Amino acid sequence: MSDKGEFTAVVVANKKMREPFGRLRLEFSLAGARAFANFAPGQFAQLDLSNIALPSPENIPQSLCDAAGRKILLRRPFSFAEIVAETDRTFAELLYCVVGPATVRMTALRSGDPVSVIGPLGNGYHVGEGKKKVLLVGGGMGTAPLQHLAQVLTAQHGNVGVVAFAGAKTTDALPFKGRLDDISQQLGFVLPEFAQYGIESLVATDDGSAGYHGLVTECLGQWLKQDQSRADEMIICACGPEPMLAAVARIAAEKNIDCQVSLERRMACGIGLCQSCAVECKVDGSSETVYKMCCEHGPVFDGKEVVF
Ligand SMILES: Cc1cc2nc3c(=O)[nH]c(=O)nc-3n(C[C@H](O)[C@H](O)[C@H](O)COP(=O)(O)OP(=O)(O)OC[C@H]3O[C@@H](n4cnc5c(N)ncnc54)[C@H](O)[C@@H]3O)c2cc1C
Ligand code: FES
Repeated sequence: MSDKGEFTAVVVANKKMREPFGRLRLEFSLAGARAFANFAPGQFAQLDLSNIALPSPENIPQSLCDAAGRKILLRRPFSFAEIVAETDRTFAELLYCVVGPATVRMTALRSGDPVSVIGPLGNGYHVGEGKKKVLLVGGGMGTAPLQHLAQVLTAQHGNVGVVAFAGAKTTDALPFKGRLDDISQQLGFVLPEFAQYGIESLVATDDGSAGYHGLVTECLGQWLKQDQSRADEMIICACGPEPMLAAVARIAAEKNIDCQVSLERRMACGIGLCQSCAVECKVDGSSETVYKMCCEHGPVFDGKEVVF
């Protein structure tokens, strides 16, 4: 894994998707290119968005009018959805959801703008050699690092079968560029973000407005019932809201399937110093628990380890 550091990346593109989502493509050169070339899926970076001017008022979502003006004191953590490393430069693309002052400012970034980025930080997903099937389970924005994992699995583990599950409350909360109004009630809809790697994907929405009508974890549970794979040859990699991760970890434990979950805690320093991202973890062979820092020991943890 590469050394972390503070690097200046340059914006290559900042594409609006359906509100409130966007995709920001950054270019790293020199030492930054080397550091981010090996950015592992599930790792994250801290972006400094404090000096970016607010977009014009008509481009600020109504619901964020008051919050948007808040001063930004801390860097913000983001994972990447795609990394492309060339000889002397690395492109990193992040998928973002506009939720507050920093992400509102992110929408104002233009091609050529510099952005200060600290990373790569934390520990990503690890798919061991013996695994033949990888199930990616994402809730809402949690699918972002899973898109990167899909990219890496396809490039480095060609013989592994991958299936992606993406869930959200409703169609509008699914952060994909595909024509979501085309999603029928049937299972097996192929999301372009995963289809580009030849990966099958299933969508679930709580309100049934797209794909499976129900929680993504119920969709996963049903899928597992009809799948014939050996449990020890499978692994589930999940990212999303904690109740979803808790359900995924429970399903995996019941079926003896290895499971890794990425927790999105509120973070301040991002490097294990401030203790604002503590995660209660079980201690092997004991009833005691310890606190680990999500930014330093995670954000990806073994599903069996976390006290949900
Ligand atoms: C490891 C990691 C990876 C992440 N990857 C992505 C990503 O790929 N794309 C993306 O859009 N966002 C990602 N996030 C979340 C992102 O950091 C926040 O959305 C961002 O900091 C919001 O900043 P803001 O100033 O716009 O809003 P803020 O005012 O900071 O937050 C607005 C609201 O969003 C909620 N919120 C913010 N951060 C979190 C969090 N970490 N967990 C739960 N709720 C939160 C809070 O309820 C808050 O009230 C990631 C977070 C972590 C910890
Ligand atoms: S964010 Fe400071 S310890 Fe994790």
